[in-house]
Amino acid sequence: MANGAWVRHDVSAWSVHSLEKAATSVATWLIDPATGDRWLHKDTVVPDNGVEQGEDWSEVVSTAIAKLLGVPCAETQLCLRNGRRGSLSKDVNVHGHSLYNGYVLLEECPHVTDYFPHVEGAPGIDPDRPSVKRPGHRLDNIQTALRGAIAPSTFAGPASLDAFDVFIGYLMFDALVANRDRHEQNWAVLTPGLTTLPVQLAPSYDHATSLGYNLTDDRRAITLSNKRALAKWASGGTAWRFEHEGNAKRAQTLVDLFAEALTLGSNDARAHWSTQLRSLDLDEVLRDLSQGAIPAMSVVASRFACELLTHNFERLTDAI
Ligand SMILES: Nc1ncnc2c1ncn2[C@@H]1O[C@H](COP(=O)(O)OP(=O)(O)O)[C@@H](O)[C@H]1O
Ligand SMILES: [Mg+2]
Repeated sequence: MANGAWVRHDVSAWSVHSLEKAATSVATWLIDPATGDRWLHKDTVVPDNGVEQGEDWSEVVSTAIAKLLGVPCAETQLCLRNGRRGSLSKDVNVHGHSLYNGYVLLEECPHVTDYFPHVEGAPGIDPDRPSVKRPGHRLDNIQTALRGAIAPSTFAGPASLDAFDVFIGYLMFDALVANRDRHEQNWAVLTPGLTTLPVQLAPSYDHATSLGYNLTDDRRAITLSNKRALAKWASGGTAWRFEHEGNAKRAQTLVDLFAEALTLGSNDARAHWSTQLRSLDLDEVLRDLSQGAIPAMSVVASRFACELLTHNFERLTDAI
């Protein structure tokens, strides 16, 4: 890819602006001394099995794919900080606006009456439907809450698409990169200080959980050993962050969620995202992956990402 998309910068010397309160683990806002821009820093995670995960490369590879799809998203970079691998996500907020995560929007919308905010460790429960998980984090409620909101200012598609129409593109992107983490703190709106201006959908951010970032290389190799195994793994990409019954495995797939969203959007949105998908050219990303161009991504992790992208692309084109 052009523009040094895969370069890893050492940001140990960057000054700390603040800690991000909405983060699930530690995330720190840093200031780029050259430009004054704010970037959100996160270390990769090393779980109990001791195998460092790929939250850093999954962020930058998925950013490259979002750009190819025309999905507005945060700029990201690979980094090192105090000797640790990590990633940076450039602040998507625009001047004169404040970022509010989806849960604030859903909670405050007077026309959304069955949304129960989810907090890690304290799941939202609807007393009338206690068996339902993530109650109210549903497409119809999101569409209602986004009514009147416009597309992100960086959206380069048709001007007729509104915020929900563009959100559909986020779901298409999630299904392509197998990002199961689109909970209501992983999408947001930018609310202007001046009430005469419209609310905007925020560009997409936090794609760290994509492309099989947390698998071991052994697991990747087993899954790649035959097509059925990969298809099975991909079909486990469920939309468990959205309202569903039963366990996470029984939630609808990310592909089905996108297909459902497409039916709710405008005709222009349907036409636009279908065209974006059909004309998607992954060759350059797949080539970089297969040539081992992404730092810290093993050969088998790169191969897994290539095969997964190719497979999910087929699933998505079949769905539209
Ligand atoms: N690029 C960005 N611009 C503005 N706000 C962001 C950006 N990335 C993340 N955030 C905010 O920081 C919070 C935590 O960041 P996120 O990347 O989602 O970390 P975590 O992996 O802990 O969920 C998000 O919920 C969002 O409110
Ligand atoms: Mg997040």
